Amino acid sequence: MALFRGLFDFFLNDNKLDEKLGLTEKQKKLVQNTWAIVRKDEVSVGVALVIAFFKQYPESQKEFKSFKDVPLDELPKNKRFQAHCINIVATLGKVIEQMHDPELMEASLINFTEKHKARGQTPEQFENLKQVILAAFPSLFGKQYTSEVQEAWKKTLDLIFSRICQVIHGTIDVNLSELEYLAARLSLVECRRLIAALHYTTYDLPSSLAEAERKVDEEIPCLRLLLHWNSSPEEGRGKTHAAIVHRLRQLNRNDLADWLGKTTFKQLGKDLDNAITLSFDELAEEEMETSTSAFHIANYTQSCAKHDQNILYRMQNSHKIYLICKV
Ligand code: HEM
Repeated sequence: MALFRGLFDFFLNDNKLDEKLGLTEKQKKLVQNTWAIVRKDEVSVGVALVIAFFKQYPESQKEFKSFKDVPLDELPKNKRFQAHCINIVATLGKVIEQMHDPELMEASLINFTEKHKARGQTPEQFENLKQVILAAFPSLFGKQYTSEVQEAWKKTLDLIFSRICQVIHGTIDVNLSELEYLAARLSLVECRRLIAALHYTTYDLPSSLAEAERKVDEEIPCLRLLLHWNSSPEEGRGKTHAAIVHRLRQLNRNDLADWLGKTTFKQLGKDLDNAITLSFDELAEEEMETSTSAFHIANYTQSCAKHDQNILYRMQNSHKIYLICKV
């Protein structure tokens, strides 16, 4: 009887759906077990995947300063190339291992995606890589790649890569560490009130706020609520930090509103600095004429305008020009 109950529990548990990830416990296990094959030889698998990626999308090799001009057939022996391949495989492996803890998994995803976003990598490049990875699995996993495993992997990669794309598309100016800072300083009541308020587009707080607040799940930790709001297309994605600052003030948390305002402004400065320095570094590398720098600056100006921003200040020193845009 005990054996029967044990087996029953085992099957019941296996089919249990993790609602946060949309995967059953069994699907998680199938993915983790097959990934063990990759872990045995991260270098060869990583090299094969990235070479296939570069062959199919040659322009993506140009993203890598250290081996952008190395001929494809010389790449597998190139140590810097190998190191990057291991980076990709090991980072993906870490995310897969963390499927038992969706918050941790999300934080890891955001961490590495933000670095790519800052360098200018696009959702399309990630989507292309995803297709290359999926196409490589049948030969990589051989007989173990049953239709059940295939479905589990497809769901997992869809989940991971759609999250990556959300982060790249997401709000430019509220990042994970800022949300962590806020979550650590808001009480659960304040956090639920903030989330409820953020769902409204009206300038003033709505009279039905208390009702909306009751709909925010008490069991969900504040950071998760903020992350969800920040990345959902119909919620915070695409809105600026100003929406949070505005609501924080209305909820009498001027301290946090001031902090977020200042932090975002500093970040804007750093982003501008990086963007401009990058342009100038690239120009120096390519030994271009000054007339071309004017072109880069014009492009930067246009990208401000594209985002509906007007240039407020234009500061210049010997090698940098800063454009401060009005949002
Ligand atoms: C799930 C897919 C990917 C993972 C897990 C991943 C992981 C990483 C990691 C861990 C690093 C080193 C840390 C950092 O600087 O960010 C890195 C660097 C980098 N990645 Fe990715 N990456 C992925 C996809 C891509 C794609 C699609 C591109 C664009 C073609 C790309 C371009 C780069 C570049 C240019 C660097 C900097 C390399 C350097 O140091 O010169 N990555 N990646």
